[in-house]
Amino acid sequence: MLYVGVDLGTSAVKMLLMSGDGKIEKIVSKEYPLSFPHPGWSEQNPEDWWTQVIAGLKELTSECDKSQIAGISFGGHMHGLVILDKDDNVIRPCILWNDGRTGKETDYLNNVIGKDKLSEYTANIAFAGFTAPKILWVKENEPENFAKIEKIMLPKDYIAYRLSGVHCTDASDASGMLLFDVKNRCWSKEMMEICSVKEEQLAKVYESYEVVGTIKPEIASELGFTNDVKVIAGAGDNAAAAIGTGTVGDAMCNISLGTSGTIFISSKEFTVDPNNALHAFAHSDGNYHLMGCMLSAASCNKWWMEEILKTKEFAKEQEGIEAKLGENNVFYLPYLMGERSPHNNADARAMFIGMSMDTTRADMTQAVLEGVCFGIRDSFEVAKAQGINITKTKICGGGAKSPLWKKMMANVLGIPVQEIESEEGPGYGGAILAAVGCGEYASVEEAAGKLVKVVGEVTPDPELTAKYEEKYQKFRKLYPAVKELF
Ligand code: XUL
Repeated sequence: MLYVGVDLGTSAVKMLLMSGDGKIEKIVSKEYPLSFPHPGWSEQNPEDWWTQVIAGLKELTSECDKSQIAGISFGGHMHGLVILDKDDNVIRPCILWNDGRTGKETDYLNNVIGKDKLSEYTANIAFAGFTAPKILWVKENEPENFAKIEKIMLPKDYIAYRLSGVHCTDASDASGMLLFDVKNRCWSKEMMEICSVKEEQLAKVYESYEVVGTIKPEIASELGFTNDVKVIAGAGDNAAAAIGTGTVGDAMCNISLGTSGTIFISSKEFTVDPNNALHAFAHSDGNYHLMGCMLSAASCNKWWMEEILKTKEFAKEQEGIEAKLGENNVFYLPYLMGERSPHNNADARAMFIGMSMDTTRADMTQAVLEGVCFGIRDSFEVAKAQGINITKTKICGGGAKSPLWKKMMANVLGIPVQEIESEEGPGYGGAILAAVGCGEYASVEEAAGKLVKVVGEVTPDPELTAKYEEKYQKFRKLYPAVKELF
């Protein structure tokens, strides 16, 4: 049988066709726009996702035996607020995970309701990109839109809804709404009250590998699929990527270098970071995870390359840098869209520091790549302080295509970085979830164990790790020194 994994990303949707034995048959990617209507705001039109998903599915399945397609599932960018009225019209553009408009609402939740209460209800505190502060923002700033809300959903759940007609979500993605009691895997009554939300407006919560329904007959006929194709709940993109890289079980780690940068630590037990600097979320294998999220990771490099250097030759710009690892005097703070973990400051901004007359273009590029590694190290340190012993990590996302970046990461963290046969983290994870939902495998753990293959490892070099240790100790002093400016 064949399974489709849909990775609904921030800049494009990537779709992947996988056979039952885990072989990737085809990958298709379709872009859509991202708009920044005000500085620090970030929105997308759900109809654009839908148009591209349908176009992509047609292309993805154009040469296969469509009667073999058994299931479809998702990894989607998290936290986005999609609201529908009583006629299922999208009320306003989706407010995305990296949108920083909710400073006031986030402060209200953290300081007036209080971090202790939020953590007790949801296992997390408020961050500007989370869904609950966005609901409060709409209530305060667009009361006419707030009054029309019939259904609240997350980005990938909008696609599942259009495909199946079922208003569903999964525990991993629901965790990022700040409306979900992560430990008990159900909606929090207290948070619903605080946000003036009724349970009927929220989706039914499934585990990521559960079947929510079948594809609507009219969609099946448009795509040439059978009416039996199952829609499986899917996961937030990081929990899906973790499946796609085999990050299941205890203290397994995955780093994703996509638009965002995340460090994801799986756990069979429910745990909370006492300072809530890391997110405590449900995992898509039925267990839990801790996660640190940087709002700008590979997007820092994309911005530096495309907007500033005006080039698309990413690999060429990285040539020659390897010889200078550990020697760079320029630092870069990667806060182009503010920062989530661990600083929780939507107003933070990026900076270069330490240039001199002999600083080169390559030094600046190197600083950008290193700044992202140091940002990941900040969350890695929070996990270490909690006694979590991370001895190696997997890596995925667009940034994982750069051998240089992987080498920096291994040396900045001082642990081996393992490469997976397929870098298609969330798409591959989505397809695996579909295969589990359709009964091809008994559990997510079994499927990931059989299908995900480690094909290489970048090991840290003790001398370079020592140099990066010194650099990191300087890096970590920079944000506290400049934060008053933001
Ligand atoms: C995770 C997060 C991002 C988005 C986009 O908390 O906000 O990783 O899911 O990828």
